[in-house]
Amino acid sequence: MMNKYYLFGALALMVLGCNEKKNESETAPEPVYYSEPYRPQFHFSPEANWMNDPNGLVYHDGVYHLFYQYYPEDTVWGPMHWGHAVSKDLVHWEHKPIALYPDGHGLIFSGSAVVDKQNTSGFATNGKTPLVAIFTYHDMDGEKAGRTDFQTQGIAYSLDNGETWAKYEGNPVIGNEGIKDFRDPKVFWHEASQKWILTLVAGDHAQFYMSPNLKDWTLTGEFGKEYGAHGGVWECPDLFPLQVDGENESKWVLIISINPGAPNGGSGTQYFLGNFDGKTFTTDQKEPKWVDYGTDDYAGVTYNNVPNDDRIFIGWMSNWDYARDTPTEKWRSSMTVPRKLALKKVGADYFLTSFPIDGMDVLASSELSQTWEINPKETTSRTIEGLDQSMIQLKTTSKDFSITFQNAQGETLVLTMDAENNQFSVDRRKSGKVNFQKEFGNKIHIAPTELLEGETFDMRILLDRSSVEIFINGGLLTMTEQIFPNEPFNSLTVENRDSQSDLTIDSVKKMESVW
Ligand code: FRU
Repeated sequence: MMNKYYLFGALALMVLGCNEKKNESETAPEPVYYSEPYRPQFHFSPEANWMNDPNGLVYHDGVYHLFYQYYPEDTVWGPMHWGHAVSKDLVHWEHKPIALYPDGHGLIFSGSAVVDKQNTSGFATNGKTPLVAIFTYHDMDGEKAGRTDFQTQGIAYSLDNGETWAKYEGNPVIGNEGIKDFRDPKVFWHEASQKWILTLVAGDHAQFYMSPNLKDWTLTGEFGKEYGAHGGVWECPDLFPLQVDGENESKWVLIISINPGAPNGGSGTQYFLGNFDGKTFTTDQKEPKWVDYGTDDYAGVTYNNVPNDDRIFIGWMSNWDYARDTPTEKWRSSMTVPRKLALKKVGADYFLTSFPIDGMDVLASSELSQTWEINPKETTSRTIEGLDQSMIQLKTTSKDFSITFQNAQGETLVLTMDAENNQFSVDRRKSGKVNFQKEFGNKIHIAPTELLEGETFDMRILLDRSSVEIFINGGLLTMTEQIFPNEPFNSLTVENRDSQSDLTIDSVKKMESVW
């Protein structure tokens, strides 16, 4: 891919060519693109500056669009734009110019995008298909003046598959009657009612709207005041149906991010399973279920219009507790790997599973270590160069074990399955840089394992330069965490505490860089 470093290198060569020839050793080596400390190698991150939520996830004409909350002037949050990148496979990304800039109505907060195939909006000319983005306007002046109606919903359209965007002159399309947190519209086309459905959050609950044309919206229902977690404000909803694996039934999934109030502190994402009748969502699930028990998967939503109705989810790999303080210099934050969502029946209950899309497997190339059996009551270690950018696959009937990543400085990341206490945990307290903010490394993060049925566990671990993602039993339990070791992890220690069962590390594979 053409990038500014290459461009810089080319210009430097031209300048040198004009002058007398210089000794080769005098020319500085070209910096390698995306090689700064902690730069993710197989996750999306912006070239420079601040990013938060994924926005406008939509597939159209062979292209997956990823828009995102972006502040182009600094590495901390500021006046929000929609950054833009595209991909043909959700694995390799091409950066695009900023898609949406703030305007007189306000900053551009989170939202979604749809393909208006029937031109219900009337935005299309010459038979083109409009992409329509639906987002929240945040009026800073209104907020500063102490008003409560400073968030409204606006739309913009593109007739060239996302290259250029025009705001709708009738904005805002949903005004605000005095709800302070009123944002993050997610829209989809509802076949049954032949209408657009919009879900947004209004402080402590979700609201549902319908529209024939993406411009005129009617409130049809609300959900959630007495359901789920309420430790913080509700944000970034998503609503979609999913087929239950191996069963002839489907359920509606309502995803709601919440900040603070997540199981391990700060930002997290809960979900509800129930029904949507075209007007409102209902469920008998009072308690929250969590998409991810780690502290670094927030504001995640799914793609619209994906072939085969696959539900593909991307989350922001950070947490508002410390997002502004993480020790990166040029850019800040990355996204989770894209994950395919499914529904699984466990006993009499149902759960969402999330697992890296198959497409990620193309990156898992050379074996960094041979298959490895750890007997009952045995602890073994291996030095594995390249471990800091790898995919580890393991299988076990042992329900009591720890996996420790370590580097030459003795920094560690410890994953523990603890049968006695029915929990899985991630301990990053000694994983390197942890003191940049007090919430980052102050405790072990825990997930309950009751829902993991059966006699065996399988686990996939994706380790990148500044993150670990753990998927247990096909993603029935998921944990995502940022880490900032002072040098790469290069050794793996497995302690099998079970007195009867083996543990097998099936493979440790290098993940190729996508940049
Ligand atoms: C979630 C969020 C959204 C909001 C956006 C602003 O992380 O707070 O609710 O639209 O970030 O950047």
